[in-house]
Amino acid sequence: MSNTANVVVGNKKTDLPVLSGTAGPQVVDIRKLYNDTGYFTFDPGFIATASCESKITYIDGDEGVLLYRGYPIEQLAEHSDFTEVQYLLLHGELPTAKQKQEFERTITLHTMVHDQLTRFFNGFRRDAHPMGVMVGTVGALSAFYHDSLDINDPQHRLISSHRLIAKIPTIAAMAYKYSVGQPFVYPKNNLKYAENFLNMMFSVPCEEYKISPTLAKAMDLIFILHADHEQNASTSTVRLAGSSGANPFACIAAGIACLWGPSHGGANEAVLKMLHEIGSADKVKDFLGKVKDKGDNTKLMGFGHRVYKNFDPRATVMRETCHKVLAELGVKNDPLLKLAMELEKIALEDKYFVDRKLYPNVDFYSGIILRAMGFPTAMFTVLFAVARTTGWIAQWNEMIEDPAQKIGRPRQLYTGAAQRDYVPIAKRG
Ligand code: CMC
Repeated sequence: MSNTANVVVGNKKTDLPVLSGTAGPQVVDIRKLYNDTGYFTFDPGFIATASCESKITYIDGDEGVLLYRGYPIEQLAEHSDFTEVQYLLLHGELPTAKQKQEFERTITLHTMVHDQLTRFFNGFRRDAHPMGVMVGTVGALSAFYHDSLDINDPQHRLISSHRLIAKIPTIAAMAYKYSVGQPFVYPKNNLKYAENFLNMMFSVPCEEYKISPTLAKAMDLIFILHADHEQNASTSTVRLAGSSGANPFACIAAGIACLWGPSHGGANEAVLKMLHEIGSADKVKDFLGKVKDKGDNTKLMGFGHRVYKNFDPRATVMRETCHKVLAELGVKNDPLLKLAMELEKIALEDKYFVDRKLYPNVDFYSGIILRAMGFPTAMFTVLFAVARTTGWIAQWNEMIEDPAQKIGRPRQLYTGAAQRDYVPIAKRG
């Protein structure tokens, strides 16, 4: 196959290189298109545009494949744990036993937040959405760790990465504790990452909190499945913010803000809201009627994906865990879960969804599991942010180290008024 694309636009011609990756479609390198022809390309939503070169995560949406550094997500979900996956995403290889132990120790050394950070929480209303609290407090970290903000120094980047990964669960749990009026629970360094998070979320000083191994495993799995997902909206936001040289704490805060939207990480929360709105299984048909009505903006939340057009491999793993968790917690008869299963069944057989290749995505099941585990709906996207922080940081580091990296500066197709002269106010109208 030719490794150039011959482009003719207007009376201009250029030969553009065609680049190949390890897997996935080849890409036409259009970097010299404007210089050679005076034309831009137009691709709102990046439907057909690769924004960067990356070695971290690979997705084949048609085949339902998701690989972290080459390893299938199903294998990592079955055999690995989140600490190992974090190391893998950050460093490119699975750790040896010694590397894993050292990494775990390093992270635990950074789990506490600066005590003055705790005062930020008091500035928020009790009923503030925890994602709003996360955007604010994670952004505020950049005002605390001036000693690790030189993004051109690999050592600074490493320390900032460890700080972010270690402190994110602490801040997330604090956001929750503040909202329910309970005292903050300090991290415990003898616990694993997921266990420590559950302990900071659900323990109170007056009672012994026993961490269920099934729930800790489910939490760990949810973290693994959400850890990275290629160049999605929030990751692209982190990269774009970082491309200007902004510090990593500010960049991750930007990623959290983007993740909050219901078309992205906010979907797991939106699934639960939707189930409440539907109310009961006999209303599913009417609801799907609204979803299919072109004049109505209703979407079936937790269904569909920009990239997965067959099945979401994360959803397959999550579906299994969902049933295990519900069995362990004895909530098989949760009416909302029954409704979710009914909705899943009907939608999977419905021509509208089949024709458009709309399948349940990871958020459909994670919302249900998290509800069963006792997380309030408003915390769902926060958990996604805790997990995705590792991916964001790996991608941010990769971008800084990429010699081809430039400040992200898209162009536009201008359709506003052509140049015109200013009209004094007395002569207008
Ligand atoms: N319910 C009903 N119709 C849908 C849905 C849905 N959830 N998703 C897509 N469609 C329809 C859409 O209206 C369009 O129909 P038509 O061809 O008749 O105009 C067709 O399917 C193609 O959709 P699209 O808008 O081109 O798809 P997209 O790639 O732009 O959108 C999406 C992807 C995830 C934003 C969308 O499927 C959606 O809004 N889903 C619900 C929200 C959700 O669950 N998001 C979580 C995504 S997974 C977690 C993550 O990675 O953040």
